[in-house]
Amino acid sequence: MRHSHLSNPKTLFLDTHDVARLLGVIGVPDALTQLVARLRADYLRWPQFEKAARVASYSSQGTIELMPISDGTQYTYKCVNGHPGNGLRGLPTVMAMGALLDCDTGMIRMISELTLTTAMRTAATSALAAQALARPDSRTMALIGNGAQSDFQALAFYTLLGIREIRLYDLDRSASQRLQHNLAASGLADLRVQICDSVRQAVQGADIVTTVTAFQGVAQVLSADLLEPGMHINAVGGDCPGKTELDPAILPHTTVFVEFPPQTRHEGEIQNQAADFPITELWRVLADQQPGRTDAAQITLFDSVGFALEDYSALQFLHAQATRHSIGRWVEVTPDQEDPRDLFGWLQAQNHPADALAG
Ligand SMILES: NC(=O)c1ccc[n+]([C@@H]2O[C@H](COP(=O)([O-])OP(=O)(O)OC[C@H]3O[C@@H](n4cnc5c(N)ncnc54)[C@H](O)[C@@H]3O)[C@@H](O)[C@H]2O)c1
Repeated sequence: MRHSHLSNPKTLFLDTHDVARLLGVIGVPDALTQLVARLRADYLRWPQFEKAARVASYSSQGTIELMPISDGTQYTYKCVNGHPGNGLRGLPTVMAMGALLDCDTGMIRMISELTLTTAMRTAATSALAAQALARPDSRTMALIGNGAQSDFQALAFYTLLGIREIRLYDLDRSASQRLQHNLAASGLADLRVQICDSVRQAVQGADIVTTVTAFQGVAQVLSADLLEPGMHINAVGGDCPGKTELDPAILPHTTVFVEFPPQTRHEGEIQNQAADFPITELWRVLADQQPGRTDAAQITLFDSVGFALEDYSALQFLHAQATRHSIGRWVEVTPDQEDPRDLFGWLQAQNHPADALAG
């Protein structure tokens, strides 16, 4: 039966305006909170997922990556780029799209923009990790790199970690001014935002340090002499072979937590360390299998690269909320022929409906 739930071939399509509207209806802080809850629940199901490191195509300008994952019931993928020089061409550094499919039939349930969604899920993942790893009394964060991802990081740490002072630093001061303006317009009366003249000024006395810069090469945004006991470092911008942010000398002073080790060993800050450099998987901390922070003086480091599970959670979130709020439109990306084998007949009927009827 063509119109049954299972065989309805229509696909929910969300463009970037739809996702913006959805975030407007829910509110970014609530959406981040819901995303963290979904991420936590999905990370706790870690063994149920069929996981693979993403498939990346590298060029001198950047990367295009395909990120698939499945839990046996649903399959998702994201296609995302990272081109740090795009700003000079008036293009975003990171753009993404993805889909949600049913495993039992292969039906394409949803196709969505994932550019806004990547910023949301990355910030939510940073917050999830920091909830487990940062000192609970953390109130001050240094935010180094004030581009597209940074507003979402700031809002996530304000909402979910209780951060009330954020110190901004970017090589381009206008980026920090833009971020400061947006945060002021968000109406967070008790959030203090200060633009700093150096990384050192931003980091001194900070409980949490988030690095989210874009540079196509081995950068040293943070050096070892800036570390302070008890810090949590949320390193987001180093996410490709040959594209890292931290002075490698930092890592031996920290306890490092990662998403999916086979991917992070290749792409994360730990690519600059020995192949057996000790790491802890984030999901094991969330599942109480391994400790996160063990004392107030320990320096913890979340070596974030972005894993497909996070996009799975985000796509599930979008599908549930868009359906609930009737946002998006139904599109036919697969034909709906009466006889599934008669694909050619369906094609003929599209182009010559009268002939097809007569025939
Ligand atoms: N880990 C993840 O899951 C994940 C997800 C999304 C994006 N990213 C990465 O995060 C980074 C930021 O993404 P974006 O979309 O905000 O990029 P963006 O280009 O919008 O912003 C990057 C900012 O970093 C600044 N910058 C570059 N080098 C710097 C330095 N040495 N010190 C201070 N500031 C510096 C730039 O001036 C710019 O304002 C990218 O490298 C991207 O690949 C990671």
